[in-house]
Amino acid sequence: MVIVNTFREERNHFILEFHYLLDLTHKNEMVFREALLSFVLITGSILIVFLVFGLTWRNLMEERRLSELKSDFINNMTHELKTPLSTITVAGRTLEKEQIFTDRNKVLETARLIGKQSVHLNQLINTILEVSFLEREEFELDRHKVVIDELLQQVVTSFLTSCDGCAEIKEDYSTNGMEASVDIVYFTTMISNLLSNAVKYCDGEPVITVKAAAAGNDIEITVADNGLGIPSEHIGHIFEKFYRVPHGNIHKTKGLGLGLYYVRRIAMAHGGDVTVTSKPGRGSTFKIKIPIQKTS
Ligand SMILES: Nc1ncnc2c1ncn2[C@@H]1O[C@H](COP(=O)(O)OP(=O)(O)OP(=O)(O)O)[C@@H](O)[C@H]1O
Ligand SMILES: [Mg+2]
Repeated sequence: MVIVNTFREERNHFILEFHYLLDLTHKNEMVFREALLSFVLITGSILIVFLVFGLTWRNLMEERRLSELKSDFINNMTHELKTPLSTITVAGRTLEKEQIFTDRNKVLETARLIGKQSVHLNQLINTILEVSFLEREEFELDRHKVVIDELLQQVVTSFLTSCDGCAEIKEDYSTNGMEASVDIVYFTTMISNLLSNAVKYCDGEPVITVKAAAAGNDIEITVADNGLGIPSEHIGHIFEKFYRVPHGNIHKTKGLGLGLYYVRRIAMAHGGDVTVTSKPGRGSTFKIKIPIQKTS
């Protein structure tokens, strides 16, 4: 194809002419090239349309999933808060009845129930507040050097005390006085969350193993249980905020879907991370890595 343009002057005007010349000796080649170009353009356009459609669809599905998670969370939270509140209300009404004062044990039992449910309510509210605090920019760790196996022993002891010896916990520390710089409060809650999950997601008698060992520049803390395990299709989501694996209507498995989100957030804030391996029906193993604090 050749384009020729000419320019000439005629009386009181100019003439500008364009000539579009087709070289028909290469006609077949040209037709093939044009067809190929059209094919590439059409295929490209179709691919782009599919790509845009696919991305929009994926975003819509993700938004829908997140909105379902949030609405599940609100349902769970309402249920979780309502349960101790109704127990406290009923216990309060019982204490208002005069005949109860003739039975000292009943009074004590009711008062204890109110105390226990208030603590539970307080813990729930704290969890929600803490998680929302973790997302603020001003969130900072208050780090202190600690001997990691000593801190783990304390966490295990206070966990067992608070749950009235609800599990058998085996401890195996080979860190021999190794130190890490951690926020004691957040670290304690992080390990307690793993312990409470190990108890909560177990059908029989919970047997938990807590280990600490050096692994390169990290301290590796392992919490392994003999619980329900986590099906593989859910394992990639369990550290997401509000995510809960459906366990049917098992009474013990109430929760807000915040515990493991908290664990990951705190492990990462310490410069580490958390991973999990699990076999449904056999148990799960959570591994937290925290950088070792070199002693000077
Ligand atoms: N040790 C475990 N064994 C089996 N499943 C577990 C274990 N730990 C967590 N899961 C699963 O992962 C989900 C998320 O756990 P996460 O601790 O974040 O939330 P939760 O326990 O449901 O609520 P909470 O906010 O009260 O901790 C749980 O719903 C549970 O299905
Ligand atoms: Mg939990």
